[in-house]
Amino acid sequence: MTHSAPLHVSPHAATRTAVHILGVASSLGAGRRGTEAAPAALQAAGLVQRLASLGIAADWHATLHPKGSVPAADAPLNERLEAVAELAQRVADGLAALAPEAFPLVLGGDHAVAIGTWRGVASRVAARGALGLIWIDAHLDSHTDTSTHSGNIHGMPLAALLGEGNALLTGVRGPTLDPARVCVIGARTWEEEELAHLRRLGVRIFDMETVRERGMAAVFCDALTVVRSGTAAFGVSIDLDALDAEALPAVTCPVSDGIAPVDLSNALLALRSCGDFAALEIVEYVPELDTGGRGADWVAEFAGAALGPGTYLLRARERHFGARNYAPLPVVFHRGEGVWLWDVEGRRYLDMMSAYSAVSFGHAHPRLLRALTDQAQRLALTSRAFSNDRLPLLLERLCGLFGYDRALPVNTGLEAVETALKAARKWAYTVKGVAAEQAEIIACDGNFHGRSIAIVGLSSEAQYRDGFGPFPPGLRRVPYADAQALEAAITPATAAFLVEAVQGEGGIVVPPTGYLARCAEICRRHNVLLIVDEIQTGLGRTGRLLACDHEGVHPDGLILGKALGGGLLPVSAFLADNAVMDVFEPGDHGSTFGGNPLGAAVALEVLDLLAETRPWERAARLGERFMGQLAAAALPCVRAVRGRGLLIGVDLDPARLSAVTAAELLLAHGIATKDTHHTVLRFAPPLVIEEAVLDRAAEIVIATLATAPPRLDAGTPGDARPART
Ligand SMILES: Cc1ncc(COP(=O)(O)O)c(C=O)c1O
Repeated sequence: MTHSAPLHVSPHAATRTAVHILGVASSLGAGRRGTEAAPAALQAAGLVQRLASLGIAADWHATLHPKGSVPAADAPLNERLEAVAELAQRVADGLAALAPEAFPLVLGGDHAVAIGTWRGVASRVAARGALGLIWIDAHLDSHTDTSTHSGNIHGMPLAALLGEGNALLTGVRGPTLDPARVCVIGARTWEEEELAHLRRLGVRIFDMETVRERGMAAVFCDALTVVRSGTAAFGVSIDLDALDAEALPAVTCPVSDGIAPVDLSNALLALRSCGDFAALEIVEYVPELDTGGRGADWVAEFAGAALGPGTYLLRARERHFGARNYAPLPVVFHRGEGVWLWDVEGRRYLDMMSAYSAVSFGHAHPRLLRALTDQAQRLALTSRAFSNDRLPLLLERLCGLFGYDRALPVNTGLEAVETALKAARKWAYTVKGVAAEQAEIIACDGNFHGRSIAIVGLSSEAQYRDGFGPFPPGLRRVPYADAQALEAAITPATAAFLVEAVQGEGGIVVPPTGYLARCAEICRRHNVLLIVDEIQTGLGRTGRLLACDHEGVHPDGLILGKALGGGLLPVSAFLADNAVMDVFEPGDHGSTFGGNPLGAAVALEVLDLLAETRPWERAARLGERFMGQLAAAALPCVRAVRGRGLLIGVDLDPARLSAVTAAELLLAHGIATKDTHHTVLRFAPPLVIEEAVLDRAAEIVIATLATAPPRLDAGTPGDARPART
């Protein structure tokens, strides 16, 4: 095939983030030299490329330098004031002249450059209205030439922007800021006159004590309200000394007990959804103090957090460039910790999906992360052409814990299922004596075992199959939860019965008590392998280590996946005794990444965590509680609440409320989950969820379902969307 059509124009072109970087190489306002080197150092550290990797189209517009000979830090104040004012005027003029669609990112320099930045930005928006400003700083920067103790001009810019102080500074062209539309965040060191001055003017100050009490995100949200009320636009000025000096010491005046950089970065995400965000300034970086380069990393991180593409643009890109095999809910996640997820605009959600049960220990579990990073630095991949020093330990642990002779590691769940099917067929021919090419596999209606061609050949879901045939022969199905049907379907050629202990994608269907035990007995009697797919149900999810344990069943083949990789990597395995596994000879089966030391190290840590924390006990207790709460609410739109442990389905009456709509409503209320089969809402939070958090989730779910608007399309055919997109 040839590609004669031109490439599509990238949706990058449509972002608001045509960021124009203006460096200001100055330390004129500071009592020490160093910040004048910041723009060049940030450029050399690859800031533009780092922003590009986040989807931000930035270009380094210019770097301005002081004119002529730079006055010494101890030169007479007036000489320095003149030099600062001259540079500030050029900054202001440069910004005022920028094309309207350009978004200015000003990189100091010391904080005196702010006089130019915000006069210039205020001029840009003046025709539309006033400019608000968030000033993030350890200091108040509100001295004047007559009140200053140090004589340093970088202690004066906020006063100057508010129209106070020396005429050289206040005279920089551009509108004066309205104090009622200015906020300071993170201040923790000031002189009384400065505080009195700002208080008199009416500037809102969120000092560091307030930030500690209320949290950076809440304070930033309040500050946004102040600077966006009655203004045409607003800007954010970050003096890096607002950050805690231990985390970010490479600044002119480090001050301890400041804002944690990660908290600032997370708060800045809120800017992505602000169409009236007009400019960003980051100042006071001193490269010579930044020995490890962390300071430059944080500058890139802050700029990226504030200027990165938001939900709409990212979804547009995904839709434009991605195959359409998913139809995700309207949210774009950026960060996860424990049971919480945050979207690219900084909104928090409770994860009630756990990536289809893969994130059982929560996001970013510190021990799992440590296992991952330690191993990644040591050895990640060798292929199985060689042995590595992690896999043998994992194999031994898996066999010991689950009681099998051997384990075969692969990556994704479907690979483990394929492995089981191959093992079963070869066992049928070489051990059971089934005639060549005749072996049969029986699975259940409503199953979900993955989406390879062989596996969808076993599916009863039309959408998974349609258009993908022909499928391999020898694949049959019986109704789920019907042991008699299984027995009736078995023939002398039957190799294996493949079954989920609880059907997950099929709608969280729990079979009647005794079903699995009965299947095990039937399979034993007919010399058929019982292979249980515990990819979703295993490792504590249903309130026991394995869902099979509820019935004391030890299958001939066990398939594990999802949570085995700790929510970090795909790690899956097929386990069986010698009688089955010994059918494999070198070359029969394998994959490049299967059994890699990185995945093995994480899985080993997962097994340690399982043994130490016994999460199935919590899953059993909390699952009962959550299901009880939902059932007790007796909501008219709910037909049934069912599940085991923390694998729970709420079956909705499609005539009243579609589960697709319900998932969208829950998302708007901060609960991330997904329907299965258009009618069932799935609730499968990380097993580490706190009782109080789950109780609150139950309240929100009940309130949301109780107040959901009735279906407008009631009586028309169900949603056209597939079950798992
Ligand atoms: C029971 C079961 N088996 C197999 C799979 C396939 O696993 P994977 O998506 O890792 O290939 C899934 C995935 O949802 C599953 O729930």
